[in-house]
Amino acid sequence: MSGWVNPLRDKRDKRMPRIAGPCGVVIFGVTGDLARKKLMPAIYDLANRGLLPASFSLIGFARRDWEHEDFGQVVYEAVKQHARTPFRQEVWDRLAEGIRFVQGTFDDEEAFGRLAEQLDKLDAERGTSGNHAFYLSIPPKAFQQVCEQLQKSGLARPQEGRWSRVVIEKPFGHDLQSAQELNGVVNSVFPEESVFRIDHYLGKETVQNILALRFANELYEPIWNNNYVDSVQITMAEDIGLGGRGGYYDGVGAARDVIQNHLLQLLALTAMEEPVSFGPSELQAEKIKVLSATQPMQPLDQTTARGQYAAGWQGSEKVVGLLEEEGFSEDSITETYAAITVEIDTRRWAGVPFFLRTGKRLGRRVTEIALIFKRAPHLPFDKTMTEELGQNALVIRVQPDEGITTRFGSKVPGSAMEVRDVNMDFSYGSAFAEDSPEAYERLILDVLLGEPSLFPVNKEVEMSWEILDPVLDHWASQGKPDAYEAGTWGPASADEMMHRMGREWRRP
Ligand SMILES: NC(=O)c1ccc[n+]([C@@H]2O[C@H](COP(=O)([O-])OP(=O)(O)OC[C@H]3O[C@@H](n4cnc5c(N)ncnc54)[C@H](OP(=O)(O)O)[C@@H]3O)[C@@H](O)[C@H]2O)c1
Repeated sequence: MSGWVNPLRDKRDKRMPRIAGPCGVVIFGVTGDLARKKLMPAIYDLANRGLLPASFSLIGFARRDWEHEDFGQVVYEAVKQHARTPFRQEVWDRLAEGIRFVQGTFDDEEAFGRLAEQLDKLDAERGTSGNHAFYLSIPPKAFQQVCEQLQKSGLARPQEGRWSRVVIEKPFGHDLQSAQELNGVVNSVFPEESVFRIDHYLGKETVQNILALRFANELYEPIWNNNYVDSVQITMAEDIGLGGRGGYYDGVGAARDVIQNHLLQLLALTAMEEPVSFGPSELQAEKIKVLSATQPMQPLDQTTARGQYAAGWQGSEKVVGLLEEEGFSEDSITETYAAITVEIDTRRWAGVPFFLRTGKRLGRRVTEIALIFKRAPHLPFDKTMTEELGQNALVIRVQPDEGITTRFGSKVPGSAMEVRDVNMDFSYGSAFAEDSPEAYERLILDVLLGEPSLFPVNKEVEMSWEILDPVLDHWASQGKPDAYEAGTWGPASADEMMHRMGREWRRP
């Protein structure tokens, strides 16, 4: 009976949510911004959606002199202020039963001993079954020390049939060499399959939808190549400035902060070949393949641009320039705008430039991937009829207004034949009744389920630095970045870079 599919074989309802098995999460750095605004609220939201096990336990590790109840109050306030889903007392009460606190500093071996005891106790009392995720929401310079303490205390080595995973936040190094060193340290303690590097962009619905758009449809893939695509623009623009973030950002800059991770990951998903399946190793293999074929276009002084925002107007608000922001030195040469051009040496993409740009204090907060198509080879109209016709485009809107826009030419109503661009929109907000979960909800749940597809592996991180390092070295030899007025779309040099290539930036 070849070709016969047994309808009873897979009776699992695909709409049933995946629920994590027995486990606990230890957060290092619970007093930090990320833990308060994102991690603790996301854990509550998961509990509220019924996706955490009854035994779930949340353990905070910090140097404050707190009791379990004090930490419970901190989590409560973070949840009340930042959770996405409505507050429900019964959900909170159940979550609160599993909240514990361990006081200590990262250099205190005894504190890690107390942490191990606490986890054993929770295993016995609540049935967390020896499964633990360690979330390092701490400054990167402390990663090594915490990993080593976890190793010494035996927490990194779970017993047979149990798991121990580590979650780390960007930045994954400062350049290729430091990334290799960091990976070396982490991998000396945790095997790569137990390391979960968070790039929260990959947890966004719209980013996962790139895969659905490309590989679940017949419409797009035939034109997703250099026969039809003229160029690709990947943009992450922010309207906010850097007041108060000097400590982290000064000396790092826009390219390291955003291009190395978020934008190169978006590029990989946009440009990769179809994976054999959506299993983690198949997906990673395709991302690694395309990243290994990617390199900055030469010469770098013609194909890159960087800038630093000066005072200007953000809407109706007058704002200061970077050098007047608190936490930045007057002679800081940190770039707040970065644009690079990369090429991908594959049959599919040869000759198609990919323009990646990011910046602070730009005209609008927006993240998008735009495929700009070649012009029609022939237009059977008078020139005057198509004066306002641009190039077709497919724009994946990652945030804030998630969806997809197709731009194409259409006849303007009237007796004359005049063709102008129009947009056709798909919007998540109006197409689906359900709200998208926060990226951190999806990613934390994936850590607990041991599902690594959405986490970049060590090789991807290193390859991204290999692409970016030559650009960073070039800029390091160039002195000050070009100034641009806050509220605009970056320095004039970025527009000149595009004009040299015979193209224009989109103004989203
Ligand atoms: N905030 C974001 O949106 C964001 C985005 C992407 C990535 N990240 C990354 O996420 C991590 C955390 O970010 P964050 O913004 O939350 O940082 P943060 O506000 O500076 O918090 C750092 C945390 O680490 C703790 N800590 C530092 N040194 C310690 C030590 N020796 N012993 C014990 N605790 C120590 C701090 O505790 P004290 O309060 O006691 O000092 C604090 O809880 C960083 O790696 C950052 O690069 C953050």
